[in-house]
Amino acid sequence: MVFDLLSSHTSIRSYKKKVFSKEEVQELLTVAQHAASSHFVQAYSVIWVTDEQLKKKLGQLSKNPKQMETAGAVFVCCVDFKRLHFAGLMNDTTIVTDTVENLLVGTADVAIFAQNLAIAAESKGYGICYIGGVRNNPNEISEMLNLPDRVFPVFAMTMGVPDELHEVKPRLPVEAILHENSYDSEKYHSLLPAYDKTMEDYYASRGANQKVANWTKSMTDFLKEPRRPHIKKFLKEKGFSLK
Ligand SMILES: Cc1cc2nc3c(=O)[nH]c(=O)nc-3n(C[C@H](O)[C@H](O)[C@H](O)COP(=O)(O)O)c2cc1C
Repeated sequence: MVFDLLSSHTSIRSYKKKVFSKEEVQELLTVAQHAASSHFVQAYSVIWVTDEQLKKKLGQLSKNPKQMETAGAVFVCCVDFKRLHFAGLMNDTTIVTDTVENLLVGTADVAIFAQNLAIAAESKGYGICYIGGVRNNPNEISEMLNLPDRVFPVFAMTMGVPDELHEVKPRLPVEAILHENSYDSEKYHSLLPAYDKTMEDYYASRGANQKVANWTKSMTDFLKEPRRPHIKKFLKEKGFSLK
């Protein structure tokens, strides 16, 4: 049942040895491609990293070595306006790719595609982990994977047979993310302390990596400084001057 599959998701960061065949990867990616796409631009590409040396390097550069090195398959998911640029040239036109709007379009496209891929993989019993860590060293990773201008990595996805089992992480209560007709921030006064308690209990009692933590404090620590400030310059160099 799709509802059970979706609500049993946990990120898997360690995998049993298994190599994916080309046929299986093609099958998974083909079904994921049926994701909706803004104006049908299909503004994404995937680099399937099969070379063990490259995988190791990617693990180091993204600072997520265990996922990359044990994964049966590693996919670097990129926003891609290169192909659209080609489409423009085929029609004797240089299309405009370097706007903030296109950045949003491409990022939404690749994320929706990737989540389809995640669900397809999980429906076959595989585990996945998104690796936003590829944005730690985007220049080096782009060079290593030969990514041209108008293409940049947003995240990677590792995939494989799970070698670990986790309790499902409790999400925010639906009332926190659902607003009827008009946005209501007042409710956070009561909902967030209650969610902190839920998360405190979860972190204190989960099977592995127990800790004393709650959600609001973790998010505050995570977001109190600018995250990855190098990204703006990187995007500019890749042809996204964010007009
Ligand atoms: C875009 C994106 C990037 C992520 N990057 C990383 C990452 O670099 N390393 C990692 O271990 N987990 C990463 N995650 C996984 C999240 O930490 C995880 O989804 C979140 O903590 C919720 O846990 P769950 O997926 O087990 O429910 C990422 C998730 C998303 C959606």
